[in-house]
Amino acid sequence: MSGTFITFEGIDGSGKSTQLRILAGFLRAQGVELLLSREPGGTPVGVRLRAALLDVQGEVDPLTELLVFAADRAQHVRKVIRPALAKGAVLISDRYADATRAYQGAGRGFSSQLISEIIELATEGLVPDLTILFDVTVEESTNRTTRRSAKNKRDRLDIEKEDFHSRVREEYLRIATAEPQRVKVIDAAGTIEGTQEQLRAIIVPFLQRRGHLSNRLVNTPRHKFKRGHC
Ligand code: TMP
Repeated sequence: MSGTFITFEGIDGSGKSTQLRILAGFLRAQGVELLLSREPGGTPVGVRLRAALLDVQGEVDPLTELLVFAADRAQHVRKVIRPALAKGAVLISDRYADATRAYQGAGRGFSSQLISEIIELATEGLVPDLTILFDVTVEESTNRTTRRSAKNKRDRLDIEKEDFHSRVREEYLRIATAEPQRVKVIDAAGTIEGTQEQLRAIIVPFLQRRGHLSNRLVNTPRHKFKRGHC
């Protein structure tokens, strides 16, 4: 059996990381061989690149930012994603190349041709089998990230202006419309439980079709979930 590559995307505060954590518990309880990863920061080198990029203090030039996300991705694809897929695992990455289209393309204004070339270089054409887009309005996203920042430090990209986030969201939705087979949109404005239900309704049959998950699911306890970093 060959592996399956799934990515989670959404604007900051969309709740995707919380959803990924809850889904992972469920899938592991079902016996799925699951690996979780993230961009930026899915490798030891990537962890350092992530810290450099998201440090609120640091002034990062937009071209530098674009290239560092690409470098992080190149390392991630070669050292983590491809080996996991070769072993037949399910790998879910919290963000991947669509984030570069949305943030550096639509957000920062780099041309789509340059973005495509850099993505191609970094990924060698590796496209996810499935992408889940957690969609929330910019207003809801801002409410959530403001609540989060009261507890933790806000990262540099969190504090970009609202129109930046609107452009990012529009680009994510555009990608979903252009690639409806690959990208499934979830309305992530509701409760954590409600969003998780929508997520499982897509992921479970998808993994069953690909032979990673049995048609007879093991019963797992229902918990009240707490929102974490997303
Ligand atoms: P995270 O909060 O989902 O961990 O993502 C970290 C930030 O990095 C988030 O604001 C989006 C941003 N980002 C980009 O701008 N371009 C990219 O290619 C990736 C992967 C993330």
